[in-house]
Amino acid sequence: MNKTEYLSRLQEQNKIKELMKNDKYLLNFHLIPPSGWLNDPNGLCEFKGINHIYFQYTPFSPEWGMKLWGHYSTKDWITYVEEEPFLFPDIKDDRDGVYSGSAFIKNENIYFFYTGNVKYTDKSYDYIKSGREQNTILVISKDGYSHSPKKVLLQNKDYPHMSCHVRDPQIFEKKGNYYMSLGARDIEDKGCIIIYKSHDLLSWEYFIKIQTTERFGYMWECPNLVEISGKLFLICCPQGVPQNGINFENIYQYGYFPLEINFEKKEYKLEEFIELDRGFDIYAPQVFTDEKGRKILLGWMGIPDAEYTNEPTITHGWQHALTLPRELKVIGNKIYQLPLKELEKLRLKKSRDFLYNSKNVEINLKFKECMQLKLNLRDSIELIYEKNIFTLNLEKCGYGRKERRVHLDRLVSLQIFLDNSSIEIFINSGAEVFSARCYCENLESNLKLNGDYIIEDFVWYELKNFEIKNRRG
Ligand code: FRU
Repeated sequence: MNKTEYLSRLQEQNKIKELMKNDKYLLNFHLIPPSGWLNDPNGLCEFKGINHIYFQYTPFSPEWGMKLWGHYSTKDWITYVEEEPFLFPDIKDDRDGVYSGSAFIKNENIYFFYTGNVKYTDKSYDYIKSGREQNTILVISKDGYSHSPKKVLLQNKDYPHMSCHVRDPQIFEKKGNYYMSLGARDIEDKGCIIIYKSHDLLSWEYFIKIQTTERFGYMWECPNLVEISGKLFLICCPQGVPQNGINFENIYQYGYFPLEINFEKKEYKLEEFIELDRGFDIYAPQVFTDEKGRKILLGWMGIPDAEYTNEPTITHGWQHALTLPRELKVIGNKIYQLPLKELEKLRLKKSRDFLYNSKNVEINLKFKECMQLKLNLRDSIELIYEKNIFTLNLEKCGYGRKERRVHLDRLVSLQIFLDNSSIEIFINSGAEVFSARCYCENLESNLKLNGDYIIEDFVWYELKNFEIKNRRG
């Protein structure tokens, strides 16, 4: 779909937007697709005071389909502009979708690297070892709104010993060199990332492959090599990791390996994979450094191939959302995530009254002690803490979602964001997070607490909506 075709279908899009307006599950302070379907956040960057949030976008259908890069921009994370889509599949090397990618700012330019997806249909293929091209493509932009012609940098033949699944480029700079990581499935069906090196961001040479000694899934998607407080991490999404007790309960994983790379010797050491989020609806994270130097993460509040696919929003013409923006901090080898400070500007009314009721809320609870807790929200959301296991139970409102769990040494604090059809829970100052979609009948918060605990502090806020304007007016 090129830009002309997209523009010729704007009336169709307006109809979908009308249909969306009547949906009680529309999110108020999260980014959702302007119409249709959204998945991964892409190309995140702050350029001259404007944060650009691109995303995998299928504007005319609420189901998986041909991918464009949709685009929102924001200066303050509270008011947004819906921009024209930024990338369209309009060359032979990305004809079946402009897949995920990232942004890198250098010398007043934004370099965008993404995967051009090409799927052959002339005969039958397994689409794993054959039948698919994954082209790594560059466009350069002076403003985040328009871009240079597309330049193919790498093709299947440049990915040594790999299947056809190699995608989602991301750039990491170290000592004047640039390193591009690509998520991959190697020829032996082992998940890995492959890294390329460049001096000018234009020509790239194969550098190194990173994977665990024992197979950890068959494919790693959406890699982010990030340095936080001097420590290196590989955040990525392994697929094909079996559930292990209360760990890896989702079909695909979302987390990170603490990592050391000796770039001179081409040696590396990966530590154990740690889950970044325990919720049901979380995938394809992307991290960027904003102009204040903060590491900000956004994820897709959705997941591919889950057993729960019957989302009630589909009949209203849309599906999926992005998570709240989160700032990453590191303590020891662990990444902590906290809602971005700017989100405090969403706070309207403040209350310390447990009986206070409202639809969209932020709840903050601090415990002096908590042995056991049952916290109910709305008519059917249940958070339980018992014997050091914290459980989110959405059985009655999850449309197929049941429970997700995490082990805690202690429960010290909870920060909960409740939007019309989503919940995000930040536990113990962001040490653990749950992100999920949920579809309750009654949207009043109806907080109820039971158990064996002593509260140190309790405050909650009614939240206002994001303000989203359309560039077209
Ligand atoms: C992750 C992902 C990426 C790919 C994109 C396509 O959700 O599968 O690997 O680039 O989605 O939309």
